[in-house]
Amino acid sequence: MEGSGMGGAGGERPTPPEDRRQPVRSSRRGPPRGPVGSAPPEGRAVRSETLDPSRWRRASRLPPYVFAEVAGWRAEALAAGRTVFDFSLGNPDGEPPEAVVRALREAARPGQFRYPQANGGRELREAMARWYGRRYGVELDPETEILPVLGAKEGIGHLLLATLGPGDALLTPSPSYPIHRFGGEMAGAEVVGVAIGPGQSYAANVRRALERTRSRPRGLLACFPHNPTGVTAGEGELADLLSAAREHDLFLLHDLAYADLDFARERAPSALALPGARERTVEYFSLSKSYQMAGFRCGFCCGNRDLVAALARIKSYLDYGMFNPVQAAARVALDECDDFPATVRARMHARARALCEGLSGAGWSAPMPRGSMFLWARLPPAWASRGSWAFSRALFDATGVAVSPGAGFGEGGDGFVRFALVEPEERIARACQAVAAFLRER
Ligand SMILES: Cc1ncc(COP(=O)(O)O)c(C=O)c1O
Repeated sequence: MEGSGMGGAGGERPTPPEDRRQPVRSSRRGPPRGPVGSAPPEGRAVRSETLDPSRWRRASRLPPYVFAEVAGWRAEALAAGRTVFDFSLGNPDGEPPEAVVRALREAARPGQFRYPQANGGRELREAMARWYGRRYGVELDPETEILPVLGAKEGIGHLLLATLGPGDALLTPSPSYPIHRFGGEMAGAEVVGVAIGPGQSYAANVRRALERTRSRPRGLLACFPHNPTGVTAGEGELADLLSAAREHDLFLLHDLAYADLDFARERAPSALALPGARERTVEYFSLSKSYQMAGFRCGFCCGNRDLVAALARIKSYLDYGMFNPVQAAARVALDECDDFPATVRARMHARARALCEGLSGAGWSAPMPRGSMFLWARLPPAWASRGSWAFSRALFDATGVAVSPGAGFGEGGDGFVRFALVEPEERIARACQAVAAFLRER
């Protein structure tokens, strides 16, 4: 998989077999849906070229979002009164710090409901700079080197859109968190998937992939701790990536959304803290996981000022910035809640152990993740040839255990499923008993 084209403008687009790309769906929900417009909904003939969804250049290239598919199964089962163990979406189940919620409530007062300042208030950018400085010893200019985003996902997608286009290539992990790949696809770039996983050097795989890239490589994306595989990186690996980026004149985008979820360290290393990194690196941090603020939609991009400016420019056309009360709450999280992320890390670590042990007891061995909030498990051997969508659907139908099919994370993902660590330990134990019964019977 390493270095293989993932498609993109002008690139070959391998078409996965239908049953790999699509979930097997119950007859009640109708036929499988492909990428937008791959088939008109039953009973509706397409009469207009313009309104033919298969001609829509970007939407038609996007397969159904993996998490939305599984959410559909889950909603259907819950409506039917079934018990569901939900390991699908990495949606934190804990509450944010109380002080954060208080700040949000207090700030939601008259005068705060107009458009906010598009680039985030100066106070928020200063809190972000203080936080970075305290943790990583990196001094950032709040005016030019930091930009609040409506979640790291939005910020990454828009930076790729701002910087890449046809003829450019983006090197990105495979398997990958969807925006790491589809941000490049939506921009029209060639997306080159680079193998990542336990026991592999992502930097070495990047170098090999660079030798085979057809388009002009422009960007290198990294994410440690990594979603979905749970691998982490030390400073040495990040330094290797930065050297490769320098040698090939690439920008380096490091998604540090799981900064506080490296199980071996208090915090995962920052690529931006490497000497000279600022000349070509931006890093993204998210408040969704470390402070359990996923619904608030708050993160930031920081580092190289030209890249930050490009993101600010494109966002100035697309959104009006972050709701003022969310900015107030984020300031409290960043300035006053330094002890909170360790509690999240301890919980995720304990759940990862419980899940590993439970699956192993069910006869399904999966490596313990080094970080993130996910466990990445190879399909049980008896299911290997049927693929991750078929397995996930059968497991869900039989047990109510919802996982994300690995195929939803790109070509490197089929053959695996991802468990998000968002169920408490006692429910993990019950889910593993159900998995054990399922595997015994099939
Ligand atoms: C690697 C990675 N980056 C970014 C995000 C999304 O972060 P945010 O909620 O800030 O958009 C996720 C969410 O699961 C993720 O796994």
